Amino acid sequence: MKFTIITLFEEALRPYLESSMMWKAQDKGLLEIEFVNLREFGLGPHKSVDDTPYGGGDGMLLRCEPVFNAVESVKEKDPEAKVILPTPAGELWTQKKAREFASPISKSQHYIILCPHYEGYDERILSIVDYKISLGSYVLTGGELPALIIIDSIVRLLPGVLGGETSAEVESFSEDGIIEYPQYTKPAEFRGMKVPEVLLSGHHEKIAEWRKANTKRAEY
Ligand code: ADE
Repeated sequence: MKFTIITLFEEALRPYLESSMMWKAQDKGLLEIEFVNLREFGLGPHKSVDDTPYGGGDGMLLRCEPVFNAVESVKEKDPEAKVILPTPAGELWTQKKAREFASPISKSQHYIILCPHYEGYDERILSIVDYKISLGSYVLTGGELPALIIIDSIVRLLPGVLGGETSAEVESFSEDGIIEYPQYTKPAEFRGMKVPEVLLSGHHEKIAEWRKANTKRAEY
């Protein structure tokens, strides 16, 4: 799976994508990350990418020209690449959506994540967007954090990324809510708090029963 991130703040994204699981996934050849600097497509001597809104109002909006040119530069090499726009006005990102994006059909998919900044973007930019995604009902300063969350939640589901085969399956979020049973590691007793006896028993059936009985289902 490949992600091309169009951003003005590559330096904010690199540390996370070059750490831990995201790095391992790239090392194993399961993930490719490419950055495109939106500034390179900026206009005039200042390489400007934004301007004031028609009709007045506060703030600056991303202009069409730099964004279209940046997206087209990627699509020239891969016309099949799909464009994701993080925006609070998008469809809510859920575990179900992450699963769809990580499904075997889209495993070799190439996604372009276009990170807006400033107060917003020119509405005409939506004409080149395939998926508008919201991370939740709050407003962030840009698309960089959403890009990291979208990538992380998809990549951890790709077969071979997580250590244990079942790690991604026995996860907290399922299609119908949040489900998880309590888990413990060594020591068996810590500051008076004991690990439930059954988990130390080695009795697989009883452990499975205990886990089932203690599975928590949270509101979503
Ligand atoms: N950009 C700013 N806020 C956002 C949000 N909540 N989700 C996605 N993109 C955003």
